[in-house]
Amino acid sequence: MAFLPLLHVLIALCLAINAHPLEHEPTRTVSVDASAPPNCFPALGFTMPSTTPSSLTNWWCDTSTEYGFVGFSYEVTACQSLSQLRSDFLTIRQTFNSRYIRMYGFCDRTGFYNDIVDAAWGAGIGVHALIWFGFDGTDEWMGRRDSLFGILHSNPRAKFVTRALQFGSEPLFDWVLDPPVLAQQVIAAKKNLSSLQIPVTISEMAYGYQEHEDDGAQDVLDAIDLIDAHMLPFFSTEASIANASWPIVLTDLDWFIDNGQGKKIYLTENGWPSVTSDGVQPNSPSAVANVQNEHDYYSVLDAHCKDFKAVPGGGVGWFWHIYSDDMEPGYGLFSTSGKLKFSPFSPKTSC
Ligand SMILES: *[C@@H]1O[C@H](CO)[C@@H](O)[C@H](O)[C@H]1NC(C)=O
Ligand SMILES: *[C@@H]1O[C@H](CO)[C@@H](O)[C@H](O)[C@H]1NC(C)=O
Repeated sequence: MAFLPLLHVLIALCLAINAHPLEHEPTRTVSVDASAPPNCFPALGFTMPSTTPSSLTNWWCDTSTEYGFVGFSYEVTACQSLSQLRSDFLTIRQTFNSRYIRMYGFCDRTGFYNDIVDAAWGAGIGVHALIWFGFDGTDEWMGRRDSLFGILHSNPRAKFVTRALQFGSEPLFDWVLDPPVLAQQVIAAKKNLSSLQIPVTISEMAYGYQEHEDDGAQDVLDAIDLIDAHMLPFFSTEASIANASWPIVLTDLDWFIDNGQGKKIYLTENGWPSVTSDGVQPNSPSAVANVQNEHDYYSVLDAHCKDFKAVPGGGVGWFWHIYSDDMEPGYGLFSTSGKLKFSPFSPKTSC
C-alpha cells in the first residue's frame, strides 16, 4: 500500500516526459470515414483479401454485429455445380445483403464442401456448415462428418468462411441419437475443429430440447457453442395469420434466452410457408399458408430488428428459410420458376 503514491508519481512523470516531444509536432487531424465498412468478415462492404490470410486474428466480425437479417438457408441436396453455387452466393450476397448461407440437406459428392468454400470465398459470404442426419436413423452422417472435417482441415480457406458447424437438422426432435450421445458428438467435433476455431452447435427447435428435458437436452445445451434455433410459428397450435405470429416467436425465443446460458442466437430455420404439402401441415385450424402470409412473416421479423438486437448474448441474427421453392416447397423467396414470390425483400441488417 505504501508504495502506491510513489507509483503514481512515477507514472505522472513518465507521462509528462512523453508529452514533451509532441508539443512541437504539427497538429494532425485523423479523419475516419464514418461510412467505411467494418474491416472484418463477412461485414457488408468488406473487401476480400486477394490471398488467403495467414491467421484468423481479427478476421471474424464480432457476433454482436450479427443481428437482424444475416442470410438464407440454402439446400444443397441438388448437389449444385460450382458455377451454380457461385452464381447463387453472389446473388445472395449482393442483391440481398446477406452475410451467410446456412446449409440445409446434404450432397454426398466427393469434395462438395470444397466447392462451397470456393463459392463462399468468391462471394465474400460466410457459411453455417451442416452435417445432415436425415430422418431415418441411418448412419451416413458419420461419413459426411468425416469428409467435412477432412475438408475443413485440408482446404486452407475453409476456416475463413466457416462460421459454425451444425449437426442437423433437428437431431433432438428426430431422436437420431440419444441426447447424451449427441452431446458427446458435439464435444468431439469442438475438439476436432478447435485449431480452426470453428464453433459447433446443433440446428434445432425449442420443442426439440423441451421434449428431451428429462433425458439429456441439458447436456446438449451445455455442449453447444452457440444456438442455431428453428423458428417455425406456422406449426404452432396457436398459429393463425403471420401478422399475429410475434407472440409465438417470442415464446420460443424466450425459452432459448432463459436456457441458452447467454450464448449467441441465430434463427437458422425460420420462415412461413406459402403452401401446405405432405410434410407441411399446420397444427392449428386457423393457420394460413399463402404468399401474403409468407411475406407478412418477413415483415414481422424485420419490424422487430431492435428487439432482436437487444437480446443478451449479442442479439439474434435471422436466416430466411429458404432461398428457393425448389429447395423446400412453399418456403422459398424464389418460386420454382425462379421469380421472386414477393418484393422487395430488403430486411434490415442493422438498426
Ligand atoms: C478430425 O476428424 C477427422 C475425421 O473424422 C479425422 O480424420 C482427423 O484426424 C481429426 N482431426 C483431429 C485434429 O482431431
Ligand atoms: C399484415 O400487416 C401488414 C402491415 O400492416 C398489412 O399490409 C397486411 O395486409 C397484413 N396482412 C393480413 C393478411 O392481414
